[in-house]
Amino acid sequence: MARGSDGMTEYGLGVPLEDAHGRLIGDLRVSVTDRCNFRCHYCMPVEGMPWIPREEILTFEEIERLVALLVGLGIADVRLTGGEPLVRREFPALVARLRGIEGIHDLSLTTNGYLLEAQAADLVAAGIDRVNVSIDSLARARFFEVTRRDALDRVLAGLDAIAAFPEVSPVKVNAVPMPGFDRDDVIRFCDLARERGFQVRFIEFMPLDGDRNWTAEQVLTGAQVRAMVEEVHPLLERPREPHATARVFAFADGRGEIGFVNPVSEPFCGDCNRLRLTADGRLRTCLFSQHETDLRGPLRAGADDAELESIVRAAVWRKELKHRIDEPGFRPPARTMSAIGG
Ligand code: GTP
Ligand code: 5AD
Ligand code: SF4
Repeated sequence: MARGSDGMTEYGLGVPLEDAHGRLIGDLRVSVTDRCNFRCHYCMPVEGMPWIPREEILTFEEIERLVALLVGLGIADVRLTGGEPLVRREFPALVARLRGIEGIHDLSLTTNGYLLEAQAADLVAAGIDRVNVSIDSLARARFFEVTRRDALDRVLAGLDAIAAFPEVSPVKVNAVPMPGFDRDDVIRFCDLARERGFQVRFIEFMPLDGDRNWTAEQVLTGAQVRAMVEEVHPLLERPREPHATARVFAFADGRGEIGFVNPVSEPFCGDCNRLRLTADGRLRTCLFSQHETDLRGPLRAGADDAELESIVRAAVWRKELKHRIDEPGFRPPARTMSAIGG
């Protein structure tokens, strides 16, 4: 098929999105707000975080329009993130709108769980397929230390509430182990995975924190945590799903599974199929992008689908080959995690 150097010629709706490295794009992460009710150390500063002004935030109609456009271009998996997505007013109504878009195979959510107990039934009724809940420690004091909120019990109640719906499956638990994370933490998470059937995943701390305090020394690697797990429970690796963030292992006795998201020590950029839409309507082609593409401006100026499509295709064509965390001169992006959406 003929294609210009910008990767854009002769394509129309229905032809897959492809970048210059031959990667097909099938996954979109939509940040619905940059606000959050927690202040996790690895993500946000205690105070002084400037919020995106309300009028710059995409409305539900605008999010629906952009998601529908991207689904028409081959996106099949849509994950809703924040900040904390459940703090966005009427959030389940957005889920219901997106559920109505034909072509979304997997509509999922990543949440800190604080508002999940109250919203679980509405989210399920709206058609959410999967939920990942972030829980960095199962010990109350340590949970408070990491998130700066004394909210472990409430988050666990949220986890229970969503797990009560068998149609939402699997439910995953995300933990970012920070220095001080120890054998007791590991054992508690293994118990949770084995006794309750959640897929617990340990995530390496990435240089996207609000305080700009990240150093390589603070990263507890997946290999280190895995060694801690294997002191107690032998593991068997499962085959890797294409485009997966996590390496997933079964407990050798067949009871439960556990995963490791290792972006720092074992980058998985090679088959990355993800795009990100920020709450203020910018398209990011990488978690670590230095450059963003404005979609809100053209959208509000009345651009039609063909115009938006050509903007998207040009941005996707320039998708970064990989992050460069380990290279000299690495610069973190201007936005921190809470404004990108993880
Ligand atoms: P599943 O589809 O359930 O596997 O979810 P997920 O792992 O794609 O999403 P989740 O929101 O649970 O993210 C888990 C961790 O993976 C978070 O720390 C994300 O920031 C990180 N992550 C997701 N996508 C990328 C990516 O493209 N690059 C990097 N470096 N990290 C990512
Ligand atoms: N490094 C790694 N993971 C992070 N998350 C937030 N900030 C960071 C960081 N600096 C995780 C959250 C959530 C997911 C969306 O991203 O804990 O599970
Ligand atoms: Fe909020 Fe999630 Fe950031 Fe924690 S990691 S401060 S829960 S957006």
